[in-house]
Amino acid sequence: LVSRWGEVVTKAEKSRSPFYPGQPVPVELFVGRAAQIERIRTRGVQQVARGKPATFFVQGEYGIGKSSIAGYVLRLAERQHGLLRIYANLGGADDLTGMAGAILEATVRSGAFNPTTAEKIRNWLSKYIGRQELFGLSLNLDTLRQDAPNLATPFQMLNFLSEGLHRLKDAKVKGVFLVLDEINGIAANPQFAHFIKGLVEQNAMADHPMPLLLMLCGVEERRRQMIENHPPVDRIFEIVDIEAMSEHEMKDFFSRSFSSVHMSVEPEAMGILTRYSAGLPKIMHLVGDVAYWLDEDAVLTKGEAFRAVVEAAEEVGKKYVDQQIYKALRSADYHSILDKIAKMGPDRMSFTRQEVAAGLTDSEKKKLGNFLQKMKRLNGIRSGEVQGEYVFCVRMVRFYIWLQSVVKTGSQKP
Ligand SMILES: Nc1ncnc2c1ncn2[C@@H]1O[C@H](COP(=O)(O)OP(=O)(O)OP(=O)(O)O)[C@@H](O)[C@H]1O
Ligand SMILES: [Mg+2]
Repeated sequence: LVSRWGEVVTKAEKSRSPFYPGQPVPVELFVGRAAQIERIRTRGVQQVARGKPATFFVQGEYGIGKSSIAGYVLRLAERQHGLLRIYANLGGADDLTGMAGAILEATVRSGAFNPTTAEKIRNWLSKYIGRQELFGLSLNLDTLRQDAPNLATPFQMLNFLSEGLHRLKDAKVKGVFLVLDEINGIAANPQFAHFIKGLVEQNAMADHPMPLLLMLCGVEERRRQMIENHPPVDRIFEIVDIEAMSEHEMKDFFSRSFSSVHMSVEPEAMGILTRYSAGLPKIMHLVGDVAYWLDEDAVLTKGEAFRAVVEAAEEVGKKYVDQQIYKALRSADYHSILDKIAKMGPDRMSFTRQEVAAGLTDSEKKKLGNFLQKMKRLNGIRSGEVQGEYVFCVRMVRFYIWLQSVVKTGSQKP
């Protein structure tokens, strides 16, 4: 093909990929989760906007979409219900001071979506702000670190948040929506459970409880760990489970994303995209992104969709599976074992030794013992409740085994 201007055109020009592997999804391309959003909206956001505090724990596996739903409801709460949104990532925190520093920083950065709110917050917390830069704020980190220890008790934190709310009264802010995301590190610290319980309880017992919507995001084990550290924590959370997406949600996702860049997806191609993504949003983005880049004519065919899945399967292994486990899973020794596990389907998270051993040759059985030991040592699997049962620790590992195997079988077909 030669264009009107004489240059050779090999492909349709690509615009911007609508897929975001590894990043929370922008609101326009967020799909599904209607029931969870509605629950958070009615029992959380609305209650708080009317003055009653609420506390949620959003739980689900790694990469299932916890941060994305938190981002979505934060925005909804701010735009439609007048809550101040504060999003604190506790990924780097392992004690209460670290946590307090993250919340303080997140508060300094909050309100940016409404000029009046932003200005009031900046005036209030001006000592933490360095010079204004072209892209956002620069922070005075020394001062921030100095003051963080003063916010590390429930009482101090409540005072701090209430003062913020008080200063925003004229800006029609009705409450505070505080998200604590990535609590994996800090949940191991027993003080964290005590802090959260204290925060909720002291607020509830105050003469005028502050309208605070507190939301923690993490895998279920972290919530259990908090309960072990401080059993009464069990009672304070309203739990929201985030699970794999339904077929319908996946279809909606792929058609919206592709049509936003004027691409269409043939029905059979859609079937392949959804089947191999198995409801995992992280994989949907990865597969979608590969498909976006390899398509050449704005119509995604069955063959292209399958090629995308094959390429994505490798990426899944490299990016989302622990590297030592990944290496072990690629060893030729384990092929027959892995194929058997794969055949159980992408959702089965446990298997028994007996099940896998059935039909293996003697030398393969030896390798099975070796495989199980190795995977246990690398924390890929753990022993289950009944004798001889093994459970995968991370869904991605399980998923990778399945994907590798079906992709191999699929590509051998003519
Ligand atoms: N509702 C959704 N619609 C579209 N894409 C989504 C949705 N939820 C999550 N995703 C995508 O899935 C991937 C993982 O999402 P996210 O980071 O929100 O998960 P997470 O549960 O917070 O993960 P982690 O355990 O790593 O913190 C991201 O690429 C994100 O863009
Ligand atoms: Mg997250």
